[in-house]
Amino acid sequence: MSQQFKSLGAMPGLAPLPVVFLSTSGPAPGLPESAKATGEQDPPNPAYIHDVTTVAWGGVVNSKPPYLSVALKPERLAWQLLKQNPQCWISLADRSLLQSLDYCGVRSGRDCDKFADCGLNKGFVDDCPTPYLADSPLVIRAEAEKSLLLGSHEVFLLRVVEVLAATRLLDAKGALHMERAELLAYVHGTYVGLDRVLGFFGFSLASAAVYQRRMAQYRGHSGEGIGESGMALPDRGGNTVPAGRSCRYTSPTKGPKSRRQGKNEGYQRGGAGSRQSGKLNKRGRDR
Ligand SMILES: Cc1cc2nc3c(=O)[nH]c(=O)nc-3n(C[C@H](O)[C@H](O)[C@H](O)COP(=O)(O)O)c2cc1C
Repeated sequence: MSQQFKSLGAMPGLAPLPVVFLSTSGPAPGLPESAKATGEQDPPNPAYIHDVTTVAWGGVVNSKPPYLSVALKPERLAWQLLKQNPQCWISLADRSLLQSLDYCGVRSGRDCDKFADCGLNKGFVDDCPTPYLADSPLVIRAEAEKSLLLGSHEVFLLRVVEVLAATRLLDAKGALHMERAELLAYVHGTYVGLDRVLGFFGFSLASAAVYQRRMAQYRGHSGEGIGESGMALPDRGGNTVPAGRSCRYTSPTKGPKSRRQGKNEGYQRGGAGSRQSGKLNKRGRDR
């Protein structure tokens, strides 16, 4: 059954969005720009402040080298600080940080110290005066390189310098398990929890054995568990896909070779022969 659509006009429209903390630092507003960063600030230097702001207008814009974007209104303190000092951190938000995340998006660092008000712990690395959120599961050190004022917002391109992950997200082999980090997303004015893994990159081509082995890894880290609805649908000679709309997959040829081909060179969808291709990295996750 096809749906009906109604125009909502021109608006960003995209959802879900990552919602994160952006921390910045610089001279306190109204004080001379000569105010010097003192790193960990012991004792605190009132002329040099740390700010933390909630940002949802942002995303990944390049893989190699890694770049992120954030879009800020010029009236934000974060905008002013980032213009003066490009050294910043993006700290991911998990469920435990939800209230702080909202607070940092409705109060300005011009009026209060949001780190102190929320009881957020600051983390520092050498040679960077801006703190990250030590309470966050994963933090990204970045430097603003370019910006473009588009209208209401100015978009900053942030070059990623380093990523620090809480060790609880790493397995014995050092592989990152983001599903352990109860992350949040922003969907048109609401915060939603991302607590259920429904598939993994390339799962639509995976054999039943691979699908089951991979999905089993996520049990216990993803709310109620995978496939507890019991509605996995049989497909393609024994493979299963989760409940919902399954893709009309046509195997190019039979046997293990075709599976390898599919994994490394892209995938085919539909009976009409439409073809999309994308290179995968070693773990099959890059796009
Ligand atoms: C969920 C959420 C997402 C937000 N995303 C952005 C954003 O992407 N860009 C922006 O300029 N402001 C955004 N805001 C608003 C700022 O976080 C807010 O104005 C904040 O008080 C600015 O603080 P500051 O003056 O200390 O920088 C968002 C607020 C919320 C609650």
